[in-house]
Amino acid sequence: MAQKTWVRMVTAQTPTNIAVIKYWGKRDETLILPVNDSISVTLDPAHLCTITTVAVSPSFDQDRMWLNGKEISLSGGRYQNCLREIRARACEVEDKEKGIKIAKNDWEKLHVHVASYNNFPTAAGLASSAAGFACLVFALAKLMKAKEDNSELSAIARQGSGSACRSLFGGFVKWIMGKAEDGSDSLAVQLVDEKHWDELVIIIAVVSSRQKETSSTTGMRDSVETSLLLQHRAKEVVPKRIKQMEEAIKNRDFGSFAQLTCADSNQFHAVCLDTCPPIFYMNDTSHRQVKFLVSCQCASHSRSSSKFYMKCDDTKMVAYTFDAGPNAVLIAHNRKAATQLLQKLLFCFPPSSDADLNSYVIGDKSILKDAGIEDIKDVEALPPPPEIKDAQRCKGDVSYFICTKPGRGPGLLSDESLALLHPETGLPK
Ligand code: ADE
Repeated sequence: MAQKTWVRMVTAQTPTNIAVIKYWGKRDETLILPVNDSISVTLDPAHLCTITTVAVSPSFDQDRMWLNGKEISLSGGRYQNCLREIRARACEVEDKEKGIKIAKNDWEKLHVHVASYNNFPTAAGLASSAAGFACLVFALAKLMKAKEDNSELSAIARQGSGSACRSLFGGFVKWIMGKAEDGSDSLAVQLVDEKHWDELVIIIAVVSSRQKETSSTTGMRDSVETSLLLQHRAKEVVPKRIKQMEEAIKNRDFGSFAQLTCADSNQFHAVCLDTCPPIFYMNDTSHRQVKFLVSCQCASHSRSSSKFYMKCDDTKMVAYTFDAGPNAVLIAHNRKAATQLLQKLLFCFPPSSDADLNSYVIGDKSILKDAGIEDIKDVEALPPPPEIKDAQRCKGDVSYFICTKPGRGPGLLSDESLALLHPETGLPK
């Protein structure tokens, strides 16, 4: 190493993702190996993402990390797994301009600084650890010039947070559960990129929650140990559903996509109820949202013999999915459907009296404009959705809505002004 003063830095941006075929249950807790395959859609990083700057310098005397401006410990197993696996793949780095030369073996002795920032509240239950660990691994791999492709990197990100492996790609992504005991074949592959089905619109209802939720780690462990439905789901249901979902995505068959997405979310929450002690992630507002969506799309109900049939209108169909929390993720098949959906959502779930529209609907605000809504007065004047009898207005049940769409995978940010660490000191800006 030439001199002791240099700092080498890399900044990356990584999206979050939402599973449409859920990951729930590990067969190996340390390596984070799942009991079934899962499929997700990557969300546009313009609206939901993690930005992470990683730096290396001979002047650093320990590995350090700052998350959203606060220093956190890197001593946890999940961070240590990612750091160890990337360091093992580090290659020689030379930057003649800055007089930097790091030999392959030097990486063992050098320390890193990491600063990470989520552009959405970490506590909102929007898979921040998925984007976070994907970004950490991607950025470290670029810093250390690791030669692994994104699928290989996904198997490392997986050891930080399971669903992080799916954030290494844009579009629709499958996490293959794999068979190997060492987890080497448990990785993510891209099914289609974000351009394949770009008319989809995603609206996330961030639901106010007072209740402390069961962590995913604890919940999954309890489900694996006690739920018979989980065993049935993993062995019998998901393998067929994965094939059907892949077909639906390939053919842009929205009816099948929505039906499979809703059914899989429902089954995941049924597994939670089948767990001892039972886990409740959805709350009253979440249930109200499901009822609202079903009323919007099901034009008529009729009874025939002992069966209850619902005729769903394909053009009004909206896919819904709920993760380990009360937030609803709604997927509309195009802009027109999303505009109508947002009007109905704002009628049924208006902001509390003191909120302003600008912070109540965030992300792609052009959908609001299409809906002809410019301020709170327009929300108050919305007509009740004709499909819903005696529609109630539940003021304040939703904290805010995020309008977004399928998005791209990780990328490097070359603009130095976006770096979260100081180029000379390697400390947070
Ligand atoms: N957990 C939540 N957000 C994170 C981030 N940005 N990086 C690492 N872990 C996280």
